[in-house]
Amino acid sequence: MQEKIQNIKNQAIAQITQASSSGELEDIRISYLGRSGKLAKLIKEIKRLKKEERKQVGILANDAKQTIEKQLKVQQNKLREMVREWFDPTVPGAKTPKGHLHLVTQAIEEIAGVFEKIGFVRVRYPEVEWDWFAFEALNMPKWHPARDTLETFFIDAKPHPKYGQILLTPHTSSGQIREMERVKGTKAGVDSVVRMINIAKCYRRQSDVSHVPMFHQFEGLVIDEGIAITHLKGTLDYFARNFFGPGRKTRLRPYHFQFTEPSFEVDITCDVCKGTARLPDGQGCKLCKEGWLELGGAGMVHPTVLKNGGIDNKKYTGFAFGWGVERTFMMKSGLEIDDIRLIYSSDLRFLKQF
Ligand code: DAH
Repeated sequence: MQEKIQNIKNQAIAQITQASSSGELEDIRISYLGRSGKLAKLIKEIKRLKKEERKQVGILANDAKQTIEKQLKVQQNKLREMVREWFDPTVPGAKTPKGHLHLVTQAIEEIAGVFEKIGFVRVRYPEVEWDWFAFEALNMPKWHPARDTLETFFIDAKPHPKYGQILLTPHTSSGQIREMERVKGTKAGVDSVVRMINIAKCYRRQSDVSHVPMFHQFEGLVIDEGIAITHLKGTLDYFARNFFGPGRKTRLRPYHFQFTEPSFEVDITCDVCKGTARLPDGQGCKLCKEGWLELGGAGMVHPTVLKNGGIDNKKYTGFAFGWGVERTFMMKSGLEIDDIRLIYSSDLRFLKQF
């Protein structure tokens, strides 16, 4: 009997140390310690033994039971450790999602970069501004109808005795006068030459599928001795090639602005028909109709504006242009956003695409 118990114990330990899962261990436990397990069966036989023997065997059987139970626990812990320690360093880590700049910020950086390469300096001027800088100094007196197109937000505050009412800048052209005043104030005076690119928020009372009350413009201004239309055309063509791609050209179409003379609307060759479509003979292109897409305004700075900015208009001439950032960006990407307000809707499903 004693030998039998010893054998069962050894057998059990051997099996336990080889078990490789908790399922296996449970099977082993049942087969030895369960109600009809091997050890339980032996224990039942104890009562048939002689009295002197019973105690001895009882102790031995109890010890076997405890040893098996203990061994089961040891093996169970070992298996758990193995699972915990199994670590594959080659599995790629979980990537946290990365955000990116808003598409308008991307466009601003890109536009600024193109102009900075040819010596333009990026500046920013107040978005809450006096009437003088936004209108009056730009040759747009109070009664002038050109003001109406700029649908301005005026602020209900006491007007400045010289500069007039406070408003939200409806265009970046107000930066022109500010820039002229800045250079005038520098040691070198106007001889330090104006080459500004002013990119800022603009505000107008309008909201529909193609307008938002807050949008962005970029305004270029160059003033120096002998600046002519050819410099304007060269700069615009350079921008068209570098921003829209090689082969793109601009054209100046006569127009009217109060602060430039002569004034132009700038068009760029269409990327779809490469500028070949002509409407009257029925060859209109689906994007542009006549080979050209409208970019925005430009012109030679009006002598009165130079004077208002304190620049000697006998000695210096200049050119300027001012276009919408959102519109220029959409023309580049070929995007046809059917509601421009989406750009500012903070809808990640839309913004994530850019
Ligand atoms: N400020 C004009 C607007 O918002 C655009 C413009 C036209 C700017 C001609 C210029 C320019 O600098 O020369 O409608």
